[in-house]
Amino acid sequence: INVGLFFGSKSVEHEISIITAHQVLNFVDKNKYNIIPLYITKDGKWLTGKVLEKLENFKNLERLEKKAKQISFISAKDGKLILHSKIKKITIDVCLLTFHGSNGEDGSIQGMLEFLNVPYTGCGMYSSMYAIDKVITKLILKEKNIPVVDFLYTSKKNYTNDFLNHCKEVLEYPMIVKPARLGSSIGVKKVNDKAELEKAIEVAFSFDDKIIVEKWIDSRELNCAVMGYKNIVVSEIEEIKKQKDFFDYNEKYVQKGKKFSNHIIPAPIDENLKNAIKSIARDTFNALECHGNIRIDFLLSKDNKIYVNEVNSIPGALSYYLWQMSGFTSSQVIDNMISIAFE
Ligand code: DAL
Ligand code: MG
Repeated sequence: INVGLFFGSKSVEHEISIITAHQVLNFVDKNKYNIIPLYITKDGKWLTGKVLEKLENFKNLERLEKKAKQISFISAKDGKLILHSKIKKITIDVCLLTFHGSNGEDGSIQGMLEFLNVPYTGCGMYSSMYAIDKVITKLILKEKNIPVVDFLYTSKKNYTNDFLNHCKEVLEYPMIVKPARLGSSIGVKKVNDKAELEKAIEVAFSFDDKIIVEKWIDSRELNCAVMGYKNIVVSEIEEIKKQKDFFDYNEKYVQKGKKFSNHIIPAPIDENLKNAIKSIARDTFNALECHGNIRIDFLLSKDNKIYVNEVNSIPGALSYYLWQMSGFTSSQVIDNMISIAFE
């Protein structure tokens, strides 16, 4: 079957999406699937062609883009997506989405494919929209009695000085300021006083019109992945050793050659805690109406309280490292994601 591997797009996580797509290219069973890479550039061009498999080196991007075939328009027929370039038509049976962040992980592409009736991997339009938005996620989880840290939120248009005072009263310093709908810790800042809070909100507003301010708690960071739809499985739990007060973009992706060296799988926590986390993970997956393969990030406070911190509806590397430790090869994860797309 023809699998369209979608990645890139206009997002601050564009480069991370390129990495995730290339991991799929490495792991996917090529006897089973005919992978058609589909790269969406930052300015919205749709490109395809074998040459895109070299994008990962992040070298000669412009030259590679010129060599790739440009899709001039798309159409859909009988549940298949058809890509039209100058020279040919390519038919896609299922879309494997490896976007991160805006314009791809947020429900936009999912909505388009839903409308065209084309199967795609991962969460649907609604749950992608819920999960990308840290405010909506927390409101839904709170309503279901799933533990989240205290938070307040505002939008650019409604933001006034009162909000700063309200934060101080309700949350107390230190706090964490985040753009509401961005990933990879971009624009995230820990603040200790009003001046810092004000500055951090300004920075967060430069990324998103909506921001969230959360109570900072001294905690460990734990993650696990959840996969399925009708039947769901929860992966092993990992601990990420933070070097700062929160796990930032630099630690996640920039540190040269140190990728994943600070991940401990399985996390050194006791069995009861593990079971509690796995149970919250299932509840979270269901509360947000998820589908496919997601990763949930938790905070574990010093007094062993668990909080859901955020939900990644398309996790980096598709969380293959967590699944490997849970009895699934990376190629099986991709297989599962594709078959769940048809559920
Ligand atoms: N948003 C990144 C890719 C992650 O959380 O995995
Ligand atoms: Mg994230």
